[in-house]
Amino acid sequence: MTDATTLTAAPVLILLGPPGAGKGTQARKLEQAHGLVQLSTGDLLRAAVAEGTEAGKRAKAVMEAGELVSDEIVIAILRDRLASPDCRKGVILDGFPRTTVQAEALDRLLADSGQRINAAISLDVEDAAMVERISGRFTCATCGEGYHDSFKPTARAGTCDACGGTEMKRRADDKAETVAQRLEAYHAQTAPLIAYYDKAGTLSRVDAMGAIDKIASNLSDVVSRAIA
Ligand code: AP5
Repeated sequence: MTDATTLTAAPVLILLGPPGAGKGTQARKLEQAHGLVQLSTGDLLRAAVAEGTEAGKRAKAVMEAGELVSDEIVIAILRDRLASPDCRKGVILDGFPRTTVQAEALDRLLADSGQRINAAISLDVEDAAMVERISGRFTCATCGEGYHDSFKPTARAGTCDACGGTEMKRRADDKAETVAQRLEAYHAQTAPLIAYYDKAGTLSRVDAMGAIDKIASNLSDVVSRAIA
């Protein structure tokens, strides 16, 4: 059973943005720079699919179609992960919440443990760039470091810069037609959260159209202020 007092510790940061905005890329940099833990519901769901859990079986076809997995499944997965001891140093939520129901559930979860959201940061990008970003994406199968054929290649072809691993993988939902569906789901169900967090007074916006390191620097400044 989950003890509400152990759910998580401040700071709590949210990265909002459409598929390919760079949430995962930037969350990994923030982990290193600020000693926080990245929680990606996409990664948690892909792990559930790979393990063949009941939740994974229910999520698989939905993810491959580029639609959103049910709030019930995602909230349960996120809640369990937040209860892990490593989350006590603070978390970066990457890809959660994605609906108003999830945002309200997160508010309740944090309130139960005396926590709050330090900042919800919207990575602002143009849809047109997203298909190109996503279609060139690959990750290291060993450590999960993310790369791009053109924008962030490995220094040595086929070898991960971070861990030296040589097995790279591409995602099943990174096909152009699925990306279009994922963008549609984002605009219909997730973009309204920008207004939700603006109203709550926790919203920050970062231009995510430039070079990765420049965005990381701007984002890090926002995070430093939010967790000070
Ligand atoms: P998820 O895994 O969360 O995918 P996503 O939101 O579609 O986001 P991506 O991982 O595609 O993009 P990203 O913003 O992390 O970009 P990245 O840094 O990789 O979700 C997958 C699926 O799971 C969903 O469709 C849904 O079915 C389900 N799901 C997950 N969470 C859910 C929830 N809460 N509720 C319901 N369902 C849920 O960058 C992309 C590429 O671009 C990389 O190759 C990178 O190197 C490159 N890049 C990054 N920044 C730049 C830059 N500035 N310039 C050039 N290239 C760049």
